[in-house]
Amino acid sequence: MSNSSEPSFSNKAEAFEAFDDIPTHTVETATIGDVIQQRFGRRDVLKGALAVTTVSYLMGGGAFSASAAAGNTSSMFDFKELQAGVDANHHIAEGYQAEILLRWGDGLFEDSDVFDPRAQTAASQHRQFGYNNDYIGVFRISDRPGNLLMCVNHEYTSPEVMFSGLTASPKDNDFVEITDQMVDVEMAAHGVSIVELEQQDGKWRPVTTSPLNRRISAANTEMSADGPAAGHPRLQTSADPSGKRIIGTLNNCAGGVTPWGTYLAAEENFHGYFWTDQMEDRDGKQVRRKKGLGGDQADSYARYGVPANWYNWGAHQPRFNVDREPNEPNRFGWVVEIDPFDASSTPVKHTALGRFRHEGCECVVNSDGHAVVYSGDDARFEYVYRFVSAGKVSDDREANKTLLSQGTLSVARFNANGTVDWLPLIYGTGALVPENGWESQAQVLIDARLAAKALGATPMDRPEDVQPSEQTGKIYIMLTNNNKREQDQVDEANPRAENLFGHIIEMTAPERNHTADQFTWQIMIRCGDPSVAEVGSLWNPATSANGWFGSPDNCTIDGAGRLWVATDQGKNWHKTGKADGFYAVDTDGDARGTSRLFFRVPLGAEMCGPCFTPDMETVFLPVQHPGTDGTEEFPGFERASTFEDPATRWPDFSADMPPRPSIVAARKKAGGRIGG
Ligand code: FEO
Ligand code: CA
Ligand code: CA
Repeated sequence: MSNSSEPSFSNKAEAFEAFDDIPTHTVETATIGDVIQQRFGRRDVLKGALAVTTVSYLMGGGAFSASAAAGNTSSMFDFKELQAGVDANHHIAEGYQAEILLRWGDGLFEDSDVFDPRAQTAASQHRQFGYNNDYIGVFRISDRPGNLLMCVNHEYTSPEVMFSGLTASPKDNDFVEITDQMVDVEMAAHGVSIVELEQQDGKWRPVTTSPLNRRISAANTEMSADGPAAGHPRLQTSADPSGKRIIGTLNNCAGGVTPWGTYLAAEENFHGYFWTDQMEDRDGKQVRRKKGLGGDQADSYARYGVPANWYNWGAHQPRFNVDREPNEPNRFGWVVEIDPFDASSTPVKHTALGRFRHEGCECVVNSDGHAVVYSGDDARFEYVYRFVSAGKVSDDREANKTLLSQGTLSVARFNANGTVDWLPLIYGTGALVPENGWESQAQVLIDARLAAKALGATPMDRPEDVQPSEQTGKIYIMLTNNNKREQDQVDEANPRAENLFGHIIEMTAPERNHTADQFTWQIMIRCGDPSVAEVGSLWNPATSANGWFGSPDNCTIDGAGRLWVATDQGKNWHKTGKADGFYAVDTDGDARGTSRLFFRVPLGAEMCGPCFTPDMETVFLPVQHPGTDGTEEFPGFERASTFEDPATRWPDFSADMPPRPSIVAARKKAGGRIGG
């Protein structure tokens, strides 16, 4: 897609992808690519097979063992792999069953209205499961040991399949069809659902009478801000002169659970919700301005892509209009901590963790007691971050709930020698000094991207989930793709130009010390089709034609320490010919780098953040935006979906129901641990 013309999108998911085609960040940092070029010369640093040669050389060669090449590997998994493909339904590996647990619009309370998609209201939506379910966290409930408390992010809304009567791309007509009432429903459908689950006859189901059930939304849930940036003038608005009381949370993508029993919801593509009234001529067409706004915070606006005008909420609610409330965008892009065991608790936005497009925020307790949170900033050429709490985890739950209020945020620099340095974002140190225009720690955190760049962080190929393993001290980084990396921007940690399929980096904390200043790293998998040399993929040869994937996004480590990866190819699924899926990935021994397919989503959907139950007998799989992504490429349909004319009506397959984002509960038919 060209950078010079305003792209058109058939749906929001495509807009989310395409936004990054307009880079907000020019790469200037000296990279590992310089090292490679010195050794091999620029001409030889190419995508494809030559990249394999380059990386194998630098990594010492022999990424996978000879026995793996012969197919003799000892995998940690034991199940018959599912066949890859794409059609209107979901599919699961043989011997397993997939049941629908919760759908958009399902009631969470005894008094919830019965879902009627043609007469949906914000009031109904506030009592129902939200839209586009993403990350899931579950908690044990001490006095109801058979039950679980589930928290689910609702990342965004897809109006073209939510509401009757819209064209496939409301953005193309500047949202003229979108009414106040629709905006109110969209805001109510964002946020988080908290719902207690019980098992009956081996099936999980929501307990609508639970006092713990709660809907948190973008519309009306009051949150507080704490940490160094709370109350800063750039967080103050006309509705909140304190700069500490924020209404709602936006674009909650992945997240985390803390060992003290709270839920972390990360705010990702917050910039998409901000809107300007100002128009400009672009290629002979009047479109909303994106650039040059923000006045004295113009650099920050540009770096964060504010406003992106993906939603027209600003036409209905002044706080989303940057001409009216220029500081409102600074109140999003944070990590929100929620106490799910108190339905009246106030969620807290922890500014100490920095402001960027947080994909997730996975937490581990270090051996010395500090809480450590890893987070990716999901955009092309953005960074990987780590937060280390100042305090230590204790038996005092209330004290633990303040651990993320104070600590050290660092950003990763991946060195050519296989080490990674954690560079602290501390005002007054390094480049973050007044001579360079830095005035306070609050500014460093509000503009974390700018501060990280000043420190020389390594620009990555869209860092999504960053998942530490409690068992091994390894940390897995999903780098989903980056079609904008040029050959002269290739470096060792991002070894392919025009990286369409992404890669997975494994970091190692020395002696499992997650607070160390320096880790080591290596690329574990370069994704894409291993049968096409030009792709330059790197898999264990034991991986089958069904098992390889593109665009790793979310991941989880199960109770046995095994890695599972979910993919999000967006509208580009046709480049692999596979629907997004959920894959079991070996990380150790001679099976390392082997992937096999366990579950795949219906046409146009994305596989989001998975969650195993503590007994590992169920895995909850969030299926997001069914029927929307890239349906133009699906043979026989070949057009964009709308409410009246969707590519699939999953999961109800009822003529009066649109497709509905839903959570699938997957388990072994015969019972027992998932994955063997
Ligand atoms: Fe919301 Fe980066 O996926
Ligand atoms: Ca995602
Ligand atoms: Ca994860």
